[in-house]
Amino acid sequence: MTRERSLSTPLPPSLRGPGANTSSSPIPGLDGLAFGADYNPEQWPREVWHEDVHLMREAGVTMVTIGMWSWSKLEPREGEFDTGWLDDLLDLLHEAGIRVDLGTPTAAPPAWFFRTYPEARVVDREQRALGPGSRGMACPSSPAYREACERITRMLGERYGSHPAIAMWHVHNEYGAPVGESFSAAAQEHFRRWVLDRYGSLEAVNDAWGTAFWGQTLGSWDEVLPPLPTPSVANPSRELDWRRFSNQAILECYIAERDILHELSPGIPVTTNFMAHTCPNMDLWRWAREVDIVSNDHYLTAADPRNFVELAFDADLTRSLAGGHPWILMEHSTSGVNWQDRNVAKAPGEMARNSLSHLARGADGVMFFQWRASKKGAEKFHSAMVPHAGPDSRVFREVCELGATLQDLAPVRGSRGGADIAILYDWESQWAQDLPWRPSVDLGHRQQTQSWYERLWRDHHAVDFVHPEADLSGYRMVLAPASYLLTDAAARNLEEYVVTGGNLVVGPFSGVVDECDGVRDGGLNAALADLLGVAVEEFCPLRAEETTRIDTTAGEVLDVQVWTEDLAVLDAEVLATYADGPVPGGAAITRASRGSGHAWYLASDLSIDGLSGVFAEVYTRAGITDSDLPADVELVERTAEDGTRHLFAINHTAEEHTLTLEGRTLHVAAGAVATTTVPAQAAVTTS
Ligand code: GAL
Repeated sequence: MTRERSLSTPLPPSLRGPGANTSSSPIPGLDGLAFGADYNPEQWPREVWHEDVHLMREAGVTMVTIGMWSWSKLEPREGEFDTGWLDDLLDLLHEAGIRVDLGTPTAAPPAWFFRTYPEARVVDREQRALGPGSRGMACPSSPAYREACERITRMLGERYGSHPAIAMWHVHNEYGAPVGESFSAAAQEHFRRWVLDRYGSLEAVNDAWGTAFWGQTLGSWDEVLPPLPTPSVANPSRELDWRRFSNQAILECYIAERDILHELSPGIPVTTNFMAHTCPNMDLWRWAREVDIVSNDHYLTAADPRNFVELAFDADLTRSLAGGHPWILMEHSTSGVNWQDRNVAKAPGEMARNSLSHLARGADGVMFFQWRASKKGAEKFHSAMVPHAGPDSRVFREVCELGATLQDLAPVRGSRGGADIAILYDWESQWAQDLPWRPSVDLGHRQQTQSWYERLWRDHHAVDFVHPEADLSGYRMVLAPASYLLTDAAARNLEEYVVTGGNLVVGPFSGVVDECDGVRDGGLNAALADLLGVAVEEFCPLRAEETTRIDTTAGEVLDVQVWTEDLAVLDAEVLATYADGPVPGGAAITRASRGSGHAWYLASDLSIDGLSGVFAEVYTRAGITDSDLPADVELVERTAEDGTRHLFAINHTAEEHTLTLEGRTLHVAAGAVATTTVPAQAAVTTS
């Protein structure tokens, strides 16, 4: 089978993620790229608004997000609205040609709401009700909260639905954080209804949750409870369903607001800002189907000196959620944040490099939190586009330079990214794998996925993320670094992919449980044993700091930590064996040939370096060519509908590099980004 798909070929619908975004210019009325910030002018007297707009124009700001924290100002008393200030603000921005992403303020209900409806507060697992005086939504299952959200959203939709300044609607803020679940009385009742809907009978619930173990059999619906504190570890299948339920309860809140806005503001796209890789509470494959434009917030982890790799991961995941279509970077920071332990300021040039890394990976907008640094409140030490130091500052000068760069890059808008390699990513599997009482706390979904991603990143290969049940047929190589939970449909999908010519690499502790977190009949990896040609007889995790050695048939010696497995080889070639550790002589890496494809199994948690050899073999079999780009220099590509290619060379090193792209030479200064455009039909190679 051939797997030919160049980046200039639009992805077939079957390959798109569930993102509903289908337009190549996603924000109506915006000619170029979106550039701006969360703008919270409630904090300032009106003179400052005028200065703000003046500075926004100086910086090249094209869009701002407003209203997200304005509920108490918009509805100072229940049912009484005060919108004069917002009318004026919208007019001011409109006159200045600045488009508005209008937020619904439902992530911060007013004090009167909590006083009137104390039962609507979020209740945590320990049954503490969380009070006002901060932010974070009320309980998503609370009828009073849902009603209040609908009222304020309807008011905004009716009043501003056709206001000429409005480019987008921005529902809520970062659903899933800081509130990802609530254990209130309303939520308990809601959960019970959700369980009834999912399973239909108590017998089916008992079966799905395996309640026969530890005598947990449920005899009546009243006994169906969320995972409240328990003396010992709680039932894991119920915990997993609780995560699914909590995701759904919060998603329902979003959908209710979105539907009102669709009704009252037709043609204006609705989004809500995700945190793709940084907040695992929400199953974003489900969310991405419900938004008109995918948008995402990303903040660097200051403690990680190679945090630009995690940035790339996050941006690739977001592009994948958008099905390859453009998306909006809704928030990042101009410099340090204020909520990590050590909030490192960005070095000169770093903000631009971060911004263009997102842009290279498909963003059609680069936005920040926030426009002007707050003088009071919890985030007064967070950086902003206009810092406390004012406009005569390095940060503001860099903001203006970035604004100008984005104006030059406007032709990039609407072009798309894609890849020949896919990594399977599934929030449900992550939730299940990271529950307590697993064979080893050292093997985690995030770390496994990130190491495999970083191997590809270092090898200069573009990556999409896909759900395990998605169509994989266009990918030359598919990686499943952490597929602990695999549905039967996903297992069949992987098999189909391999037998029709695919190259699949599966990581340790995969194919272990079904969607109820139950081990299947047939062994610890029954879902994949036939495909991989190996059966896992036992998981053999290592002690903390313990290391064992793997010898490969290619002559490599690899040290591994954390994890080994005792494999029975059924029908696969052994590519490496353990030299010592719990299973000396046992198979550690295998390869099975199935149909016209191949499936590798890595029964250890290999390091980023350790993955190198096996990935190199897979690249060769998959026809993926090597790159000789310098280390820590990325070449990322977006392709326009007419085949024009926009190339971004991103230099994360302290030296200048010169890249030769067919017919042209590109100098990339230390820590900088260089871009070039290749007209349709021209071929490009790097050297
Ligand atoms: C985001 C949030 C913003 C702001 C920012 C600070 O998660 O959406 O409102 O708090 O963090 O980094």
